[in-house]
This record gives sequence, C-alpha cells and structure tokens, in this order.
Amino acid sequence: MIRIVNIVGARPNFMKIAPIHRRMLKRSEFSAKLIHTGQHYDEKMSKTFFEELGMPEPDIYLGIGSGSHAVQTAGVMIELEKILSKEKPDLVLVVGDVNSTLAAAIVASKLHVKVGHVEAGLRSFDRSMPEEINRILTDSISEMLFVTEQSGLDNLANEGKDDNQVFFVGNVMIDSLVEHLEKAQDSTILQDLGLQPRNYVAMTLHRPSNVDHKESLGRILQVIHKIQQELAVVLPIHPRTRKMIEHFGFQDDVAQMKGLHLLDPMGYLDFLRLMSQSRVVLTDSGGIQEETTYLGIPCITLRENTERPVTITLGTNQLVGTQPEQLIKAFDAALHGQPKDHQVPPLWDGKASERIIDILQSQL
Ligand code: UD1
Repeated sequence: MIRIVNIVGARPNFMKIAPIHRRMLKRSEFSAKLIHTGQHYDEKMSKTFFEELGMPEPDIYLGIGSGSHAVQTAGVMIELEKILSKEKPDLVLVVGDVNSTLAAAIVASKLHVKVGHVEAGLRSFDRSMPEEINRILTDSISEMLFVTEQSGLDNLANEGKDDNQVFFVGNVMIDSLVEHLEKAQDSTILQDLGLQPRNYVAMTLHRPSNVDHKESLGRILQVIHKIQQELAVVLPIHPRTRKMIEHFGFQDDVAQMKGLHLLDPMGYLDFLRLMSQSRVVLTDSGGIQEETTYLGIPCITLRENTERPVTITLGTNQLVGTQPEQLIKAFDAALHGQPKDHQVPPLWDGKASERIIDILQSQL
C-alpha cells in the first residue's frame, strides 16, 4: 500500500488536488489522506470548492487562517509536523505555490518524507512575488517534480535538477476544467446577472503588487471605469481586494460604475461558466492564464511577467502590465482586432492526474 498525504491550503489548490485525490481513493494500491491547512477558510473561498469538485471533507483541518507570511507558514509547519511525525507517509504531495505548499514541503522534507510537487519548475524570475520564493524553495527540496509545460523542464534543468526526478505530465488544473465544463453550462450566472454570452468582460484581481498600493489599485480602477462604459465588467472580488478598496476609500468610485458587477467570490462552476462565455478576460491570476488558454478566450494579464509562458507562446494570453494606456489599447485590440492564433499546450488533455498516479505507483 502506498501511503500519500495530499495537502491543500488556498483556493487555487483545490482544483489541482481534487482530480488526484479522488483518483487515489479509487485505486486499491493507494491509501490517501487529505490535509487542509485552512489558509483559505471563508465558505466561498474553500467549502464551495470542495462540494463542487466532488472532494471529500479533509481528513484533517489545521485551521491556520490568515496572517503575515511568517505567521502563516510557521503555523502550518508547527501543526503539520505533529501530524506527519505520526503518519510517516511514503510521500507528501503539494501543489502550486502558496504559503501552505512551501510549509508542507519543508516539514515533510525534514522528517525524511519524500515530497512530490505538482506544477513544478514554473518561474516568473521575479523574487518580489512571494509565490516565486515558494516555487524555488519547494522545488529545491522535492524528490518528484511534476511539470505542466516546457519552460518548467528547462528551468529545472538549468537549476541542476536530476532528470530522473522530473516528469512532464501536463496540467491537473485542466483535468478539473475538462471534467466540469459540461456541468458548468447549467450554471445560471449569466441569466442572474442579465448578461449575454460574449458581451461582457470577466475580471479577477488580487495580486498584492496590484491591490496593496493605493496608486496601483487606483490606476486599475481607472481602467475598469473606462472599460465598463463600453462592455459590462464582472469582477468577483477576492477578500484581499475588497479590504483594500475599503482601506484606500475607493468605495464611492466603485459604486458609481454602473457597468461593473462587483460580486462576492464565485464558486468554481459559476466562474467556469462566466469565463467560458466571456468576450475577454482581464486578470492577474496565474491559473486563469492557463484556463483561458485551454478555453480559447483572449486573456489580458495585468502583470509584467508570467511564470506560465506557454500561455503566451501557444495560448491566448498577453502580458500587458498595469499602465492604463497599455491596458486600454490591449482591450480595444482584443475587442476589435484579429484574434491571436492559439492552441492547447501539449498534455493539457484532462489526464495529468492519471499520469501522476501511474508514476507514483511505479516509483514508490
Ligand atoms: C493566496 C496565495 C496566492 C494565491 C491566492 C489565491 C500566498 C503567498 N498567496 O493569496 O498565491 O494566488 O491565495 O486566492 O500563499 N482572506 C479572507 N478569507 C479567506 C482567505 C483570505 O478574508 O478565506 C483575506 C484575509 O484578510 C487575508 C487576505 O485575504 O489576510 C489574504 O489572504 P492570504 O491567504 O494571506 O493570501 P491571498 O492574497 O489569498
């Protein structure tokens, strides 16, 4: 029996672990436990995703909650060490690049438990992003590295990782998308908001570099102000961004934008429906750059760099930064210009989680 502990903490982890954990539970060779650190804890940031993705309740919930980077990372480490010292699994599987990912990898590694990292090798080469630090450190102590795109293979090779530890498996987040796309068509989100397909912009915004400073958040709100005069903008808002809008006193500016639908965080199926029917997506998220590439929806990314370059070279993504003129220009081009040629990257086929499990079975 291969004993695995799967770790989740924050919203983007859930759609990555769900297809892996559910498949492991069905395979008699595996005994899989799910630990939720509680980095994200609001119902709309966590529980809804478990339900919609068909994931069982976590076996263990650490309840760490919010805090500074050190508080959050250390909190996960202290609690998880107690559990892993007893469990001593054959491998701890972590996904993505959030604080819970790194915390779990450090704890497991120091207890001499193997670490597998799903979505390994991605690099933005921007160490001011907390996620970049999490990615570099997690990869450096992981024994098994599961990679989504060619750049990940190149980066790990450049960092001297042994080829035998690196596995090009595709994208588990796309597994969840493929599996739920049909079901998402039953969502009534468009009717509820009075929107027509291809006649609105879907937007997300939560990067600290964009929302934690008055000037950058103000600049982005100016852009939204312009865009919503031409096309409705739907923005399910991350708790961090909502807090910052209030903190900087932008509530009135936002309330005046009649074409802006400022909503609570959305569940997985509603957001998938919203994204798949949109004219264009504006985002600073990592995962959404990949999901729009799969869906063939133009994506304008409000960042200066991406750790997911295949979404640009093969996909529908373009990096535009956050200067208003550039953003408006890119928006106009997406609306009125020629669509960009695009294709789905290799192995983004809905079968990445099966590949990972087969590899774990043969190696452990
Ligand atoms: C985290 C990840 C980020 C990921 C994002 C997706 C790190 C370093 N960052 O950022 O990579 O893209 O999740 O959402 O791990 N909050 C709530 N309810 C919740 C969770 C958070 O109100 O359920 C609020 C709290 O005020 C908290 C703030 O959001 O302080 C930020 O949460 P945190 O987990 O620290 O980082 P995210 O910005 O969510």
